[in-house]
Amino acid sequence: MGRGVRSEAHAAERGGDEPASSEPWWRDAVFYQVYVQSFADSDGDGVGDLEGFRSRLGYLELLGVDALWLTPFYRSPMADNGYDVSDPRDVDPLFGDLGTFDALLAEAHEHGIKVTIDLVPNHTSDQHPWFQAALAAAPGSPERDRYIFRDGTGAQPPNNWVSTFGGPAWTRVSDGQWYLHLFGSEQPDLNWTNAEVREDVERTMRFWLDRGVDGFRIDVAHGMAKPDGLPDMDPRAAQAAGPHEFADPRFDNEGLADIHAFLRSVLDDYPGTIATGELWTFDDDRLASYLEPGRLHLGFNFRLALTHFDADTLHAAIDRSLTVPQRVGAPATWALGNHDVWRQVSRYGDGETGLRRARAMMLVELALPGAVYLYNGDELGLGNIELPPGVGDDPRAEDDPARNRNIARAPIPWEGTAPPFGFTTGQRSWLPLPEEWADRTVEAQLEDPDSTLSLYRAAIEARHSHQAFGGEGIEWYGAPAGCFAFRRADLDQADDESGVVCVLNTSGSAVDLPPGEVLLSSAPLVDGQLPSDAAAWLV
Ligand code: NOJ
Ligand code: MG
Repeated sequence: MGRGVRSEAHAAERGGDEPASSEPWWRDAVFYQVYVQSFADSDGDGVGDLEGFRSRLGYLELLGVDALWLTPFYRSPMADNGYDVSDPRDVDPLFGDLGTFDALLAEAHEHGIKVTIDLVPNHTSDQHPWFQAALAAAPGSPERDRYIFRDGTGAQPPNNWVSTFGGPAWTRVSDGQWYLHLFGSEQPDLNWTNAEVREDVERTMRFWLDRGVDGFRIDVAHGMAKPDGLPDMDPRAAQAAGPHEFADPRFDNEGLADIHAFLRSVLDDYPGTIATGELWTFDDDRLASYLEPGRLHLGFNFRLALTHFDADTLHAAIDRSLTVPQRVGAPATWALGNHDVWRQVSRYGDGETGLRRARAMMLVELALPGAVYLYNGDELGLGNIELPPGVGDDPRAEDDPARNRNIARAPIPWEGTAPPFGFTTGQRSWLPLPEEWADRTVEAQLEDPDSTLSLYRAAIEARHSHQAFGGEGIEWYGAPAGCFAFRRADLDQADDESGVVCVLNTSGSAVDLPPGEVLLSSAPLVDGQLPSDAAAWLV
């Protein structure tokens, strides 16, 4: 859809007046994840906030994204950077207030940008009034029933589950009972079989939908339902990074279908709004089931974020990520990274090599059919940062500093030649910005046609305006070892040759390109060939 068309659609009543034939906006949208604490700080306290973000909306229009995902800005003691919510229907003073939120929402819509926000329905903060009431109440009370309290066996917790942050998933309270927390002990899990929990989440959804948000990213959408009897897990599951090879009753339980359908039923009262599930699910059948009609609209699939820079494994990951949702009529949802995983530049080898590969992978991602999520700072080619001791603690890293996610959450460098690069008017930012980022600022990259920011802008623009990006399928071509090539194609028209061709070279040497006009490449061609660690689009 061209930009002009898109603005008209936004100007119309949400969803309502769009022509019946048009695809829903989210099926191939480019989303941009705003990590609010790290985007822009307006009040000099070194933490990004809603007003800072509002003041930079013009940048996002320039970048050309369709929609945003804002990470939590709700009332929170910030034990897990806002994923521990003590009041989901208010803005934490750290980030501003409801008035600022309403202003930025209206302004984003004026810029033609949709706004989705995080919904955290698996757990609350331990400071939430409900949990405080549960602690004050007796075992077996209605207050405790909103959470998952159980008796243990002597000094042993009710089962062997471990928290995804490490250590037991149970914490004992003063009267001897234990409560479950799949994440930090400050994040008690809610009991989704309790009707009050549903009612309250519905109230939260309607609170924000009535203000005009365009949908939610659902935190831990694969974890809200717990199995009857809470059976033990296979301890090996805790160590398995990625695909679940071992029995893990903490996630992907039967009860999710009903919960997802419930979330969907609320959204269906607000046409044009969506739910994108955070789904660390590697069982294809389950993943597809979450995206069936009447359930979640979109579901992250993290295969690309877990795959090395290797054409063959990437090829396989793309195939699976695309075909599994398509089995149930849903588009794929692509993400190379987010605030929980390492920055692409660092994953792919750091330095110049890491940056070249990250640029190449962006072209691969943006060539694919489906919804794409970009993470703020990717468009500047940012890598992980080093954290000085005592700075940027992460509850996930308590037992193992190597698991600190804050290395991938550095503030955005906006302008100037020294930290904090215009991120804050104060002296300090909540996480440090490296001196070396002087050439990574928005200001330094904006007018430079070879910059990573310019590459992103050109790619997003082409994806929106060039007809070669219309098809919903892909067709693989033969390619030299260490490379792949696919054509984005219209599945219904087998002989249609008009889709964009994307070539990726992960081999050590330059390769010839298939015939066609080069629309964009992540690195300059060398004697007409695609160099290693690069990708190109041809039409
Ligand atoms: C997923 C979020 O992305 C992550 O940052 C958070 O720690 C957990 N869910 C718990 O809410
Ligand atoms: Mg601030």
